[in-house]
Amino acid sequence: METIKAPRGTKDVLGDESWKWARVLSVCGDVARDFGYSEVLLPIFEHTELFSRGIGDATDVVEKEMYTFLDKGDRSITLRPELTASMVRSYLEHDMRRAPQPVKLWSAGPMFRYERPQKGRYRQFWQADFEILGVESPMADIETIDTSMEIYRRLGLTNLKVLINSVGCPKCRPAYREALKSFIESSPGGMDSLCETCRGRLERNPLRILDCKNPSCKEMTESAPAILDSLCGECKAHFEDVGRGLSRIGADFRLDKRLVRGLDYYTKTAYEILAGELGSQNAVCGGGRYDNLAEAIGGPRVPGVGFASGIERIVITLEGQGVYLGEKPKTEAYVVTASDGLAIEASALTHELRASKIPADTDYSGRGMKAQMKHASVLGADFVCIIGDDEAASGTVSVKNMSSGEQRSFIRSETASRLLSWKEEQNR
Ligand code: HAM
Repeated sequence: METIKAPRGTKDVLGDESWKWARVLSVCGDVARDFGYSEVLLPIFEHTELFSRGIGDATDVVEKEMYTFLDKGDRSITLRPELTASMVRSYLEHDMRRAPQPVKLWSAGPMFRYERPQKGRYRQFWQADFEILGVESPMADIETIDTSMEIYRRLGLTNLKVLINSVGCPKCRPAYREALKSFIESSPGGMDSLCETCRGRLERNPLRILDCKNPSCKEMTESAPAILDSLCGECKAHFEDVGRGLSRIGADFRLDKRLVRGLDYYTKTAYEILAGELGSQNAVCGGGRYDNLAEAIGGPRVPGVGFASGIERIVITLEGQGVYLGEKPKTEAYVVTASDGLAIEASALTHELRASKIPADTDYSGRGMKAQMKHASVLGADFVCIIGDDEAASGTVSVKNMSSGEQRSFIRSETASRLLSWKEEQNR
């Protein structure tokens, strides 16, 4: 029988990598605290309707990528493909409109999309998601971009490109859609020059054609009218303020008139942050404003803006840029005994070292001292604490510094505190 493997598009994050994830998530948490976002933990599955109404029926995510199933009570349930719709649902459900506005929330966890897996694109992936709800001000848009850039700055990422655009609002977008459609229809070759997917998009979601990677679609829309030229007064003023505010905080950004996002809830600002190390799946972050999402899922109008950053893509970029994230956590002290009869002593000493916050381990398999020493060196332990027959008889422990070879003898009951001092001495 073949052994069972993890499903396609998922991956096990093992010890060599998981500590980097923990570091990234802890920086996200630090930045969230410093910017005033509070953490919420939301369900991994929701009613399917939340996403079909929130994200939009004509999006790839809803049409093709959702993990949807009937539960045992015949309800249609979907594994969340993203967090924004859930964030807004939670805001409405808990009547957060009654709290002082804005309400700033963040959350991190796994998302699910049935996409074609490749480097940086998985079927289960993690996002850290940040949202500012309840305010229209372009200053909130700026703050979300600043939040994401602060995460990357603290992690030591460089060479990121911030691209921004405006996708307008229901007042100005219909005219732009029409202008884009007639531009395409009247171009040489017309809609026949589009790829099959984009031919389908022409009626349902023509803006997405701007985003297509297919060379003939790209060429055809090269000189297409820009949505920025069709914005209504309000969207235009909003966009200009976002640009001015970003310049004021020294953010390095570029306008990208082709930038449209794959989720239908966006209004006004849309942005992406790209990293060269990621190959074709180059967005480390995507976000924007979504002033009509709350209404789309049955609530009152609640303006909002936010972003999500992919954790796998952050880690790939960190590795690609060779960023030093600190040392991988490891066992610092390994307790070695001369014989099985001393196992309880070894276990007690290991307990004391750990209680003094010295990462420690010991052997449970009754191996000889030589094998135990070898194991300590495989673990990369800095110190080995030896309880041999002589030490047991004299109530001492011999501690060996594995890199210098120096050996000191400590009174058994003082071992943890003396080892801490030795560590400090070394770090000085
Ligand atoms: P999104 O652009 O679909 O936006 O995803 C945001 C980020 O999640 C991407 O830039 C990428 O880093 C990561 N990501 C997306 N799909 C995958 C995948 N299949 N594998 C690995 N990483 C992936 C949203 O999800 C919006 N909810 C963002 C937002 C928050 N807008 C406003 N607030």
